[in-house]
Amino acid sequence: MRVAVFSTRPYDRQFLDRANREQRHTLTYLEQRLDASTASSAEGSNAVCAFVNDRLDAQVLEALHRLGVQLVVLRSAGFNHVDLAAAAGLGIAVGRVPEYSPHAVAEHTAALVLTLNRKIHRAYARVREGNFALDGLLGFDLHGRTVGVIGTGKIGACFAGIMAGFGCRLLAFDPHPNPACVASGVRYVGLPELLAQSDIVSLHCPLTPATRHLIDAAALAAMKPGAMLINTSRGAVVDTRAVIAALKTGTLGNLGLDVYEEEADLFFRDLSGDVLHDDIFARLLTFPNVVVTGHQAFFTEDALAAIASTTMDNLDTFEREGRPAHPVSVERLA
Ligand code: NAI
Repeated sequence: MRVAVFSTRPYDRQFLDRANREQRHTLTYLEQRLDASTASSAEGSNAVCAFVNDRLDAQVLEALHRLGVQLVVLRSAGFNHVDLAAAAGLGIAVGRVPEYSPHAVAEHTAALVLTLNRKIHRAYARVREGNFALDGLLGFDLHGRTVGVIGTGKIGACFAGIMAGFGCRLLAFDPHPNPACVASGVRYVGLPELLAQSDIVSLHCPLTPATRHLIDAAALAAMKPGAMLINTSRGAVVDTRAVIAALKTGTLGNLGLDVYEEEADLFFRDLSGDVLHDDIFARLLTFPNVVVTGHQAFFTEDALAAIASTTMDNLDTFEREGRPAHPVSVERLA
């Protein structure tokens, strides 16, 4: 296949080149993000490989279709950024990487919990300044605390297992309870009960119309005062303005984010020399009890190798059978 690979960085190229044995496919690496203004870069390609902040709306898909693109392969599990109905209407097949390393994301989620609880981000800076005072660094034992997991698929289940290892009590909310979680002692409850009882709430559900702003002002008000919220799923599951209001009043005690509603204009680039135009994001960075990472939860060697290998599998299978090995279909949204 001739593949235009959007939003690539050197690490993507390294892992994709390694997986593209005998150069079966011709990969054209593009640094830019895919959107209406860059879709023409796919000219000459019959497939497009996209990442989480590429835009695959109807307009972009129509432009790709006109160029002869028959296949979109996502280097991600999430597919909320693709208009699947439009793709189906145009006869463009969409493949994804349904599972690469749930451990990568779950372990990063745990890292955010530990960082916020034990104030590692503040301690690191303090010690480098020669300040060894402990005031303001007080944490709590995770052992015996209640962790609420929203979405117990591959990543949520893995995170629940890690937190069980710390001796936490696990609650979960998911319209489709995971039998493995039930067997390991996770208790499924309604969302209001999970919010009211959890010291730590962690989001692991996909972004769908039902989960957009699932954590809004009302949900934040229903949480235990001073609780910790962690989001490594998709930014728009959380209403960022409501979260800032809850941080200002102290209702929310700690916030860990790996994803952000408007991250497409920020993440995966070095903007350290630029003026930050997003005032909401800038406000988030002013809180001592907020830690933000730039969508790096997936970023392990193991996950990148698995993403590259599944991407090749999607391309190989499409070439052989006219469909990707791991297709995404409109039905999956139901
Ligand atoms: P999965 O499909 O295995 O599990 C998702 C779970 O969410 C399912 O059990 C589903 O029933 C549940 N769910 C659906 N609607 C829900 C709702 N309204 N309330 C509660 N639960 C609901 O997906 P997986 O692999 O565990 O990934 C979860 C999410 O993590 C992905 O959709 C993606 O957005 C995000 N992700 C983030 C990464 C990062 O680097 N930060 C990397 C990979 C995934």
